[in-house]
Amino acid sequence: MKRLGILISGRGSNFEAIANNVTAGNIEAEIAVVLSNRSAAAGLDLARARGLNAECLPSKGLDREIYDRMLVESLERNRVDLVCLAGFMRLLSGWFIRQFPGRILNIHPSLLPAFPGLDAQHQALAHGVKITGCTVHFVDEDLDAGPIILQTAVPVEDSDTVESLSARILREEHRIYSEAIRVVLGGRYCLQGRRIVLD
Ligand code: GRF
Repeated sequence: MKRLGILISGRGSNFEAIANNVTAGNIEAEIAVVLSNRSAAAGLDLARARGLNAECLPSKGLDREIYDRMLVESLERNRVDLVCLAGFMRLLSGWFIRQFPGRILNIHPSLLPAFPGLDAQHQALAHGVKITGCTVHFVDEDLDAGPIILQTAVPVEDSDTVESLSARILREEHRIYSEAIRVVLGGRYCLQGRRIVLD
């Protein structure tokens, strides 16, 4: 059974959607550890309430390389095969990324490469796009830039606020993150240049 390590910083709704799919047998894996860099992350309580192994590793004030070594120590101790960033609000060092080549996923609330970085839903509204969405991609050393596994489009309504748009995108995030995990765990893809071609 493959082992997932899920990294969070906050609410943890993507983690919860993944955990629900693991419980339902839709993802053939187990959640080996949920790691948060913030002790106040609501997702930590959700993980503990489900009886999962949840660890808090506070990152505040720590040098990136030192912190990333702590993360890797936990992920290795928990024998994690696939690292899933789910609202993890901290940049990872190149060193960290090289410890898990092709084995780190992230979800981002826009159609990358549009609107990388923080507040993607606000960026989409401010730009005036009519369609945005969400992206699950492999993590490489550039921000929100690795090969794209799955994307879904979400319409922007004239009446949208950041909150209403974020909620519409989030429903799709919860669906495609689990689907992308299934694709990656099943090895049902190949990489051509920076294109992921699904089998
Ligand atoms: C999501 O919008 C995700 O795309 C972004 O951070 C948010 C995390 O939400 N990376 P949650 O903690 O999974 O509820």
